[in-house]
Amino acid sequence: MRAYSLIAPAKINLYLEIIGDRSDGYHELAMILQSIALSDRVDLRANGTDQIRVRCDDPLVPSDASNLAYRAADLIVQQFPESYRKFGGVDIAIEKRIPMGAGLAGGSANAAAVLVGLDLMWSLGLTQPELQDLAAQLGSDIPFCIAGGTAIATGRGEQLAPLPSPEHLHVVLAKYRSIAISTPWAYKAYRQQFGHSYISDPAEQKGRKQQMHSGAMVGAIAQRDGKRIGQLLHNDLEKVVLPTHPKVAELRQTLEKMNPLGVMMSGSGSTVFALVESSAQAEQIHQQLSAEIPDPDLGIWKTHLTASGVQVVS
Ligand code: C5P
Repeated sequence: MRAYSLIAPAKINLYLEIIGDRSDGYHELAMILQSIALSDRVDLRANGTDQIRVRCDDPLVPSDASNLAYRAADLIVQQFPESYRKFGGVDIAIEKRIPMGAGLAGGSANAAAVLVGLDLMWSLGLTQPELQDLAAQLGSDIPFCIAGGTAIATGRGEQLAPLPSPEHLHVVLAKYRSIAISTPWAYKAYRQQFGHSYISDPAEQKGRKQQMHSGAMVGAIAQRDGKRIGQLLHNDLEKVVLPTHPKVAELRQTLEKMNPLGVMMSGSGSTVFALVESSAQAEQIHQQLSAEIPDPDLGIWKTHLTASGVQVVS
């Protein structure tokens, strides 16, 4: 087929712990990543030229090589030059629904969809581990975005162990549109403030990562215990983002007062999410929040947890 449409779901972090430094300059992490139904749509079409062209319904999304979706297509072109000669360039059209600079892996999800779509369009026959190896070259969250669902993510975030998905839970996401947080900035600020507490011994780092597998959060997820999951939400990056972005901290406090299962910032922010038991409760919190903070800059989304990663729709 010469064209594919794909759904690329966003993610939230149910858990994000920074363990220490890595020799490649990244951080060693222990996370639990969770796909949510809020998704972008990515359409791929052979364009009969030798170019990769990206367009998006949101004019703020770049169409050049700074767009991860472009870089994903370029990586496939570099890796499979014969297929590129045979099939030629590709048009990538993105319908943007996932907010940007939000800690929701929107750009990573688009790149994941391009990898999955080009594998199909060019009949490359890549296995999921092969696709995830390519994905890891582009960004730490992209391997997860391909498989989606719920997973323990360690290393840079690219080493994945799947968990059952607590799909019965819903979330309300809230983000000030004008506050976008740079992930490199958040990690750099964390290193400056908390670098002294990093675990540097590799054996100790390994032990900490292994503890994740038998940890309380994994137990709560396995038991589909929404209340406990809510209590155990954790994100080390809150320690640097909330003090520097008081509006995000206030938003978090406002959501907490509405008695959800739990509230946490996702990734490096600036999205704050409230985990809830039902779509009715999500609707109630949505209404309460828009009444309490009637700021047109505040975006609020209701969605639910999902077990799906990138899906091919046609
Ligand atoms: O891998 P990715 O490009 O998504 O990471 C964005 C930035 O986040 C990196 O450049 C790095 O500054 C930081 N990061 C990190 N440790 C990780 C993942 C990301 O320091 N494990």
